[in-house]
Amino acid sequence: TSTSASGSAQEPAAPALQGAGSVKQQISNLVALSLRATVPEVDVEPIVEVCTGKFGDYQCNNAMGLWSKVKGSGTSFKNPNAIGQAIAKNLPACDVIESASVAGPGFVNIVLSKSWVAKRIQDMLVNGITTWAPILPVKRVVLDFSSPNIAKEMHVGHLRSTIIGDTLARMFEFSNVEVLRRNHVGDWGTQFGMLIEFLFEKFPNWEELGSQAIGDLQVFYKASKQRFDEDAEFKDRAQQAVVRLQGGEEKYRAAWKKICEISRNEFDQVYKLLDVQLEEKGESFYNPYIPQVLEKLSSQGLIEESEGARVIFIQGHQIPLIVVKRDGGFNYASTDLAALWYRLNVEKAEWIIYVTDVGQQQHFDMFFKAARMAGWLPDPKEKKFPKTSHVGFGLVLGADGKRFRTRSTEVVRLGDLLDEAKSRSKSELLQRLTENGKIVDWTDEELEQTSKAVGYGAVKYADLKNNRLTNYTFSFDQMLSDKGNTAVYLQYAHARICSIIRKSNMDVEELKVSGNISLAHPDERVLGLYLIRYAEIVEEACTNLLPSVLCEYLYNLSEMFTRFYTNCQVVGSPEEPSRLLLCEATAVVMRQCFQLLGITPVYKL
Ligand code: ARG
Repeated sequence: TSTSASGSAQEPAAPALQGAGSVKQQISNLVALSLRATVPEVDVEPIVEVCTGKFGDYQCNNAMGLWSKVKGSGTSFKNPNAIGQAIAKNLPACDVIESASVAGPGFVNIVLSKSWVAKRIQDMLVNGITTWAPILPVKRVVLDFSSPNIAKEMHVGHLRSTIIGDTLARMFEFSNVEVLRRNHVGDWGTQFGMLIEFLFEKFPNWEELGSQAIGDLQVFYKASKQRFDEDAEFKDRAQQAVVRLQGGEEKYRAAWKKICEISRNEFDQVYKLLDVQLEEKGESFYNPYIPQVLEKLSSQGLIEESEGARVIFIQGHQIPLIVVKRDGGFNYASTDLAALWYRLNVEKAEWIIYVTDVGQQQHFDMFFKAARMAGWLPDPKEKKFPKTSHVGFGLVLGADGKRFRTRSTEVVRLGDLLDEAKSRSKSELLQRLTENGKIVDWTDEELEQTSKAVGYGAVKYADLKNNRLTNYTFSFDQMLSDKGNTAVYLQYAHARICSIIRKSNMDVEELKVSGNISLAHPDERVLGLYLIRYAEIVEEACTNLLPSVLCEYLYNLSEMFTRFYTNCQVVGSPEEPSRLLLCEATAVVMRQCFQLLGITPVYKL
């Protein structure tokens, strides 16, 4: 049974339906209108999915649910299939849908109009990929990521947090959401007493020191820790230093600042390599807010005394959340409560997202619950904003299946790691170019930039393509391979498309305006349809906080392009103008994916 969608309009399609939001969103809007016409007495959300079968491009799955709501209520519908038929018939007339048919117990299979798909692609080519931004239900997000600890190691876990967080930020920003990128550095706590005293002891001229002068901060940290453990008198001084620092004594504040500055310098080098923007608002920033926030929670009766500490008991958890330690000091949890209060009330964020390893899940779970108990956040079941999310990720493993470490040192230096990725990709590039005699076409600058883009991109992609919750094995050989689902393979795929376009004698810029995309061949249609899904993919990746969704899309897109290119001759064919536009659109979408993944695309390889 097939019903033409045209001429069956119950209500004219609102102008807002045209163009804005993802394709799935637009189909959902049309389905919503049909649902209102079909069962005016029931208020339901449209359920629209991409079709997996060959009978349609999108599918509306509302009929069965509606049937269970209306049957026995004197409805004229005989069965779910009849509801499906009515939904199909009541789809408003528009240029989006070509036809709709009903299968089984009322699945409505919707076929998009080829000319509409083609037009959407062409619009994007003329007006830019930003016209394909999804519409998300939030305006401002706080994204708390990277967040290493001062004077301690910035380890691969922080690299994961940085890479995942940056991608999420880019995806939200692309979707026109304001993102407050927050580096919640561990810059407060008792370890600073020992660091400060050690600084005074080792570098009496500490005030004049440049940021490089004390060398490696981690080594410094270890030495001071050793001193702290071995010498009771030093330990005593260190403990007093904490008190003096927290009391705001000038000299101690200055020393603390110095240490933070040195650390910041190290972190910034990594951020620069990775091209990641972050605004530091460390734990110390929220410290002044803690007393008043705890005061509020206390007055709500949420804070209790337990074994000398002040705690919040949380349903479903054996141990309570400690917010004031036995020694009267604040901790990680009290800082996070104050930070959340600040983000909600001062920064007015609607969604607060934290990117850390899964090991911290319990901490987040507990303090989110505490915030709900205090009435700061609605019940998550209500699916309302403001809301908080913990984006957890698994460990990075070495080839031996254990926590990733290098041969020489215990911790992996992030800078070294990126350097190695770059130099490995450079030697492979050099070898290949020498073999095929193309090395003469490359300047040193180009070689350098390309190996950097390929090498760093490989590290990022290897991390992002996995479901973030699983552990992943770090392997240079794998990530730098030009086969399989790797950034290198994708860079090649993109560069090849660029070269197809370069080699044709047509002016693509001119074609964008004057040419026409036709999707006559089945592989052209499949590719075109997948291209226009871009917005809903970004939407899904943002909604579920899963960068891997975008990686998967990018990889599939390159495979679909290959199929198209194998079966449809481009250069020299009568369809060359249209097919070149499809090449260009694929390259544009691939580049935009790279951009969101923080990977610099290369145009020649
Ligand atoms: N500094 C912490 C760590 O290295 C991560 C902080 C995450 N952010 C937060 N608001 N707790 O494990």
